[in-house]
Amino acid sequence: MGKLDGRVVLITGAARGQGEQEARLFAAEGARVVLADVLDAQGEAVAKEIGAAARYVHLDVSQEEQWVAAVAAARQAYGKVDGLVNNAGILRFNELTATPLAEFQQIVQVNQVGAFLGIKTAAPEIAAAGGGTIVNTASYTGVTGMAYVGAYTATKHAIVGLTRVAALELAAKRIRVNAVCPGAIDTAMSNPAQLDPTADADEAAAALDELYRKLVPLGRVGRPEEVARLALFLTSEEDSAYITGQPFVVDGGWLAGVSVL
Ligand SMILES: NC(=O)c1ccc[n+]([C@@H]2O[C@H](COP(=O)([O-])OP(=O)(O)OC[C@H]3O[C@@H](n4cnc5c(N)ncnc54)[C@H](O)[C@@H]3O)[C@@H](O)[C@H]2O)c1
Repeated sequence: MGKLDGRVVLITGAARGQGEQEARLFAAEGARVVLADVLDAQGEAVAKEIGAAARYVHLDVSQEEQWVAAVAAARQAYGKVDGLVNNAGILRFNELTATPLAEFQQIVQVNQVGAFLGIKTAAPEIAAAGGGTIVNTASYTGVTGMAYVGAYTATKHAIVGLTRVAALELAAKRIRVNAVCPGAIDTAMSNPAQLDPTADADEAAAALDELYRKLVPLGRVGRPEEVARLALFLTSEEDSAYITGQPFVVDGGWLAGVSVL
């Protein structure tokens, strides 16, 4: 028996990183998964590897009509949708006063509007299926500040707010809505060397290890599989049946407090 037997879950940003690991884990736990992304070749390849329990759909989460088409495609493939993981996101580094308006708006459009559109489009489908779950991907920057990622931090705080309101409004429809707040996770987002074929992967990994050994109490960067485990917990009807409207930090203790040593 898998934890998600019989479930159908749409996961955005699933071509790589945390979304990919969520798709793999959820399928291993019995769900049928619809992987959505803008990286079509990568997303198709992951879905193919997972097998018959997976489909890939192109979905730019910032575009409402693409959400409508993706949710319809998921229903057509598997008969219903009763789970959503809003995982897609982008990060840009900039000092607030140097951030071009267009850059700020782009980050809002993908991270914040994308999550809003996901809730708006998927919730009626999930309600029609008799209820289910939505897991939004915020960040530790959804619950604290971080210099030089102001636009990103603003959107992640907004996602925590959206999560609370959606939980209040959708509880009567038997839809639970929670958020994961990852700390530093070893994906292309925090380790861009993963995308650079000329980079020395071992050197980049060692530099990352060194940085997080000092910053994070558990002494290492997180793995995308560890965030996927939390998303699984929040999607499982058994494990998290009485939990809704909450942000959950998964950060190796980074936010626990300051250390003088
Ligand atoms: N890596 C970290 O340290 C970290 C920390 C906290 C939160 N997060 C959040 O976790 C989520 C997953 O990020 P990741 O770490 O796996 O990074 P990643 O960059 O590997 O994955 C992000 C995925 O989102 C997709 N995406 C980007 N824009 C999109 C759009 N408009 N429509 C659809 N898909 C789009 C990308 O193609 C990619 O597959 C993001 O929301 C990110 O903000 C990451």
